[in-house]
Amino acid sequence: MKSLMGMSILITGGGSGLGLGAAQHFINAGSRVTICGRRAEKIDSAQKKMGSACCGVVGDITVDGDRQRIIAAAVAHGGGLHALINNAGNMYRGSITELDQDRLLDVFNTNVVSGMLLTGLAVPHLIKTEGAVIFLGSIHTRRAFPGASPYAATKAAVQALTRVLAAELGEKKIRVNCILPGAVYTELNQRAGIFDDDTAMTRLQSMASLHALGRIGTEEEIAEAMTYLICAEWTTGATLDVDGGLGLGLTDS
Ligand SMILES: NC(=O)c1ccc[n+]([C@@H]2O[C@H](COP(=O)([O-])OP(=O)(O)OC[C@H]3O[C@@H](n4cnc5c(N)ncnc54)[C@H](OP(=O)(O)O)[C@@H]3O)[C@@H](O)[C@H]2O)c1
Repeated sequence: MKSLMGMSILITGGGSGLGLGAAQHFINAGSRVTICGRRAEKIDSAQKKMGSACCGVVGDITVDGDRQRIIAAAVAHGGGLHALINNAGNMYRGSITELDQDRLLDVFNTNVVSGMLLTGLAVPHLIKTEGAVIFLGSIHTRRAFPGASPYAATKAAVQALTRVLAAELGEKKIRVNCILPGAVYTELNQRAGIFDDDTAMTRLQSMASLHALGRIGTEEEIAEAMTYLICAEWTTGATLDVDGGLGLGLTDS
């Protein structure tokens, strides 16, 4: 296995939630990390907390010029690029009879299209390091949540394209894998205006018994899975469920 020590890692959406937890985890292990996000206050506060090993870029991954700037910043900060984590994502839920075209296209643009285009920009740098790409899928492709078709569809797309890109980039020694996280408390639903903080936490905690392991997960546990997929040199095209057994569909009948 490779070691995280000295690696240059780009995490999109690293100003909060799983991305922020992963950034701190990698920095603790000796990596140089670049994060990006649209809200300057989130990026600034994350960068201050993590110090000089972290480079924060205020940018929107759906904007072509921002994508170029984010990749260039990561390469400059880390002296190259060993891993791209396509983590930035948004939630959109709604009944199939009430979906809004602009919101639907917007969530596909962020969750699917931008990660693909960023991956394309990262390839010339990842060739040099025989690096890795990770996409963030979701438990939503394992369990069907009524009303969540927009989000679930984006995550299914990410799972499918992971396997194609793993096949396509294998000859360049670039590994491409996907993590399917279960329930972890972050800002995802609140940013989408679906729940307030308290409701989001109560809802997630109420799902604890649906997990084989009886609890929701932590950012650190997702970061550990990312570490494996960055460092494991013979793993590509994999979809790794990191969900405490939520995807098993436990039933007591
Ligand atoms: N938490 C869970 O239980 C869970 C489960 C399964 C999968 N996931 C996936 O895990 C990933 C991380 O989500 P999270 O739970 O950590 O939620 P989060 O705290 O809301 O983090 C998502 C981050 O993405 C950034 N982002 C969104 N759109 C962006 C854009 N256009 N350009 C740049 N950055 C953008 C957001 O920052 P700005 O708004 O400031 O840009 C935010 O910091 C997502 O792909 C999500 O679908 C989460």
